Amino acid sequence: MSTLDVAWCRAQFPALAQKVNGHPAVFLDGPGGTQVPQSVINAMCDYLVRSNANTHGAFATSQRSDEILAEAHAAMADLLGCNADEVVFGPNMTTLTFALSRAIGRELHNGDEVVITRLDHDANVAPWRALEERGAVVRSVDISAEDCTLDMEDVRRKINERTKVVAVGYASNAVGTINDVAEVVRLAHSVGARAFVDAVHYAPHGPIDVRALDCDFLACSPYKFFGPHAGALYGKREHLTRLRPYKVRPASDEIPDRWETGTQNHEGLAGVRAAVDYIAEVGRRAVPSAANRRAALLAAYDAIRAYERRLVEKLISGLLEIPGLTFYGIRDPKRFDRRTPTVAIRLANHTPKEIATFLGERGIFTWDGNYYAINLTERLGVESSGGMLRIGLVHYNTAEEVDRLLTALDALARR
Ligand SMILES: Cc1ncc(COP(=O)(O)O)c(C=O)c1O
Repeated sequence: MSTLDVAWCRAQFPALAQKVNGHPAVFLDGPGGTQVPQSVINAMCDYLVRSNANTHGAFATSQRSDEILAEAHAAMADLLGCNADEVVFGPNMTTLTFALSRAIGRELHNGDEVVITRLDHDANVAPWRALEERGAVVRSVDISAEDCTLDMEDVRRKINERTKVVAVGYASNAVGTINDVAEVVRLAHSVGARAFVDAVHYAPHGPIDVRALDCDFLACSPYKFFGPHAGALYGKREHLTRLRPYKVRPASDEIPDRWETGTQNHEGLAGVRAAVDYIAEVGRRAVPSAANRRAALLAAYDAIRAYERRLVEKLISGLLEIPGLTFYGIRDPKRFDRRTPTVAIRLANHTPKEIATFLGERGIFTWDGNYYAINLTERLGVESSGGMLRIGLVHYNTAEEVDRLLTALDALARR
C-alpha cells in the first residue's frame, strides 16, 4: 500500500500556518472548499505576469494562454480518465450543470422523466427541476434515513422507459455517503437514459474513471480538490457534439469550445493544472515508479484513501463517545469504504451554529446548516432547527487536529 507523506503535503499549503486567537487553524471545512498549495498560487500569479491575454491571437501572450488552457484540459482529462476535448471548463459546477440541463431540455418532450435523489446537493437538483418548465416529470429517489444511503430499490422503481436523465451524486457533501454510481449508470443505460454524476464532493477523496463508470456526464469543482474557484464538466464526445448548447455565433462550434461560453478564468485554469499536478506529485512521492500523470494520480488517491480512512475511524469512534451526540450517516467501520471522511452531527442543547461558533473561536473551522443539501436536511427533519454540523477531513488534516476537535466538542457537550 502506498503511504502519504503528510508532513510534505502540509508544507505545500501556506494557509495551514494561520492562527486564530492564538490557536493553530484546523481546516475541517474542506467540503466547502479546500486550501491551495503554493504551486497553485504560483501558477495563477505566473499566468497574470507572463501570459495574460485573450485566446487565439497572433502574439506571444495569447499563444501562451492557448497553451496553458490546453494543458489545463489535458490535466483534467488525466484526472477523470477521458480525452482533453471531453473536458469543459466553466465558473463552477452549478453554472455548468444549468447550461447542460438547458441544452438537454431542448431535446425533451412532454412527459419525459428525469430522476434525481434526496441525498444530492441542490446543484444536482435545481437544474433538473428547471426542466419541469418544459413538461418533464422529475422523480426523486429516497434514502434510508438510518444510515443516509441511497435506497437502491427506489432507484430501480423510479427509473422506467420514460426516463431520459438520471442525475446522481458520487458522494454526499453533507454526510459523506459514497453511492454505487456504476450501478445507477447501468440502470440508467438499461432504459436508454443518460447518466449525470456530480463528483464535486468525491473528487478530493477518490479516483475517478469516467470510462469505467461509463457515465455520460460528470461534473466537479477544482476548488474542492486543492485548486482555484472553477468548475469542470466531462461529457462523452458524442453528446458534447450532438447536443446544442446556448452559445454566441462567432464562438467555435468545436468541442469543448462550443460549451465554454465567453472568456474563461484563465489564471484559474492555470491553477487547475497545477492542482492536478500537485495531486500527481503526492502520488509520485508514494510510488516513485508511477509511469505517467494518470498513474501518479491513482497512486495519490490510494495513499489519500488509506490515510483518510484511519483519520475518519478515529474521528467517528471519538464522536460516538460524546454525550448527547446524534450522528448522521454510515458509522460501521466495516462499511467505511462507502463513505468519505465527511461527517454530520448534532449535539443536544446546542444548535449547529452554536457549535460551529464555539469551535471557530478555538480556530477549528466547520460548517453548520444544510450546505445546500437541503433535500437531505428536510428529509432528516433538521432543516428548521439549524441543520447539522459538518466536519470534513481531507488529506492535509492530522490525528492531532482530530483530537483537538474531539476535546473541544466533548467540553461543549458537557456544558
Ligand atoms: C456535492 C456538491 N455538488 C455541487 C456543488 C456545487 O458546486 P459549485 O460551487 O462548483 O457550483 C457542491 C458545492 O458545495 C457540492 O458539494
